[in-house]
Order: sequence, then C-alpha cells, then structure tokens
Amino acid sequence: MLDMILLCLIIFQIHQKSLNRVEKIINKKVIFEKGDLRDIDVLKNLFTKYKFDSVIHFAGLKAVGESVSNPLKYYDNNVNGTLKLLEVISLFGCKKIVFSSSATVYDEVDAANYIPLSEQNKTGKTTNPYGTSKYMIERILEDLYVSDNSFQIAILRYFNPVGAHESGTIGEDPNGIPNNLMPFIAQTAVGKREFLSVFGGDYDTHDGTGVRDYIHVVDLAIAHIKAIEYLNKSATKPLVVNIGTGKGYSVLDMVKSFSKASGVEIPYKISQRRAGDIAKCYAKPSFAKEILGWEAKKTLEDMCVDSWRWQKENPFGYKQTDC
Ligand code: UFG
Repeated sequence: MLDMILLCLIIFQIHQKSLNRVEKIINKKVIFEKGDLRDIDVLKNLFTKYKFDSVIHFAGLKAVGESVSNPLKYYDNNVNGTLKLLEVISLFGCKKIVFSSSATVYDEVDAANYIPLSEQNKTGKTTNPYGTSKYMIERILEDLYVSDNSFQIAILRYFNPVGAHESGTIGEDPNGIPNNLMPFIAQTAVGKREFLSVFGGDYDTHDGTGVRDYIHVVDLAIAHIKAIEYLNKSATKPLVVNIGTGKGYSVLDMVKSFSKASGVEIPYKISQRRAGDIAKCYAKPSFAKEILGWEAKKTLEDMCVDSWRWQKENPFGYKQTDC
C-alpha cells in the first residue's frame, strides 16, 4: 500500500501556484487530482486509481456571514460532500479519517459562560449554518462509528487559524474583501484597505474588543500529523480534540502586534458589533497535549511576522496583479 493520504479540498478554491510552491518547500512532487467532492463517480475513480492509508477531510466553505444568507449552499457543500466521501470510504475500506471541525460547534450559551472551552462543553446550538454544518458532520461521524467500529476517526476543533508558512511563499489569499480579521489587517498594512473596522468596542473583555484564540497554521498542520499518528496506533472511539493555544487576544492586541511586526501603523475605527459574534472564545488545550503530545509552539509574534512576510511578498496573493 502506498503511504498516501487523500487531502480533500474544495477544488475551485485551490491555486495551482500554491501547489507548485508546496512542492518547492517539501522538495517532492504533489499528486493533485481535481474534482468535486459531491460527485460520487469522481471519488470512486480516485479510490480505484490510488490506495490511501488515511483521509484528511478539509473540504468545506467557511464564511460565516455567507452561510447565514445562503445556508443551502453550506449544507450541500459541507454536509452533502462529507456524506459522499464517507460512502466511498466505506465502500473501499479506507476508514481512517481526520476531520477539520471548528470551535463554532460549541453551544452559544456555553461558549458565553464557560471559558476556556474544553471538549466537554456542550455543542450544537451554534450561531450560524457554517457552525451547524460542522456540528452535523461531527454527529454523522459519531453515528458512523457506532454502526461500524472499525472506523478510526479524529475530529479536530480548530480555533482561529492565522499566519502563513515562514518561507513567505504560501499563505491565505481570500476572494474579495476578507471576512476574517488577520487577512483584513494584513491587507490594510499593505495599503489595499483604507482602515480596519473593529466590530464592537463594548464587549466584556480587557479592552472592549472581541477575544479569540489565534493559532498558527503550521502548528495546526502539525496537529493533523499527530492525529494520524494517534490513529495509527489506537483503535478507539472517535477522538474529539481542541486545537488552540489556550491564549485569548483581543482585536486591538492583534492590531498592536501586527503593527510591531510590520513596522506599519494600522488605521482602525471602532464600529458596530457584527451579528453572531461572541465576546470571548479560547480553548482549554490540555487534552491535545495529553492525548496527541501536541501543543502550539508559535507565538502571536510569529503569526504576525509570517502573515506580514506573505502579504508583503505577495500583495495580490497568488495572482500577479489585482485585476
Ligand atoms: N473582526 C473585526 N473586524 C474584521 C474582522 C473581524 O473586528 O474586519 C473581529 C471579530 O468581530 C472577532 C475577531 O475579529 O472578534 C475574529 O473574527 P474572525 O472573523 O477572524 O473569526 P471568528 O472568530 O468569527 O471565527 C470564524 C469562524 C471560525 C473560523 C474562523 C476562521 O467562526 O470557525 O472564522 O475562518 F475558524
């Protein structure tokens, strides 16, 4: 059997250039097959052509606001896509799977009252269809295990992934105006945006702005390797684990840290709260350390320095120009 892992990604959001750059970093050829996860024939052909050891399932849409205005698109892409994948996985007997879940699965009321969030906190009453789609997939995976305990499943609940590879060659390239804080700050620093709107200055936090647990994408990537290693040696019920740092930083902490890393002043204006946002969200990360031997190593400074390097060296993302 080839030592191969199927990485499921939403294909139309992949930039060919990013794959070429990954190949340069790892000095290895990356096998890339283009297809729609919802197309069962595409998946069957893929599993016939290759033999996979494990599947890391990243595919999904992730814009919270868009999920509120277009929920069916989210349930179709995220939930329906997963169902098709699981059907084919079952058929071909490749039953080791790591799934990208999110801190958004935590119950809204629990998240407001019990911080830091541990894996034991309640889930389900999410604030948006994106979060609900992740919650539904978690339930599907758990039910699947009950029906067939030869499945080996790890569910990673990401907190707020930010940063870029330290080479400055691969990073986040959002379509249009960024929804998330870090790419918005980076684009403001590079002069693409006039100022940052800080959504709410009256939260019950140390400076009134929203607090989140930002995690460097490289730490996050390593957590997936640890999860695969764990599944290789343990056959147990689905593992559910928070992937965060356990540290909460406010929007203004992020602005300050990014200004320091880039040497650029970030203009900002405090505006209205954004619908669906909560005051604070950060992880209790101890279970990841205990069970996977994983903990975040990168600091907030690393996250800002690496994001800035990527943004400065690629002001138009993977495109040559902004048009
Ligand atoms: N924020 C601003 N201005 C902006 C953007 C964000 O003030 O222009 C604030 C938000 O109000 C929040 C914080 O910055 O307090 C972080 O917001 P993000 O949009 O970056 O991230 P969220 O905490 O809303 O998390 C969402 C999903 C996560 C997902 C994450 C990254 O809930 O599941 O985006 O995609 F992982």
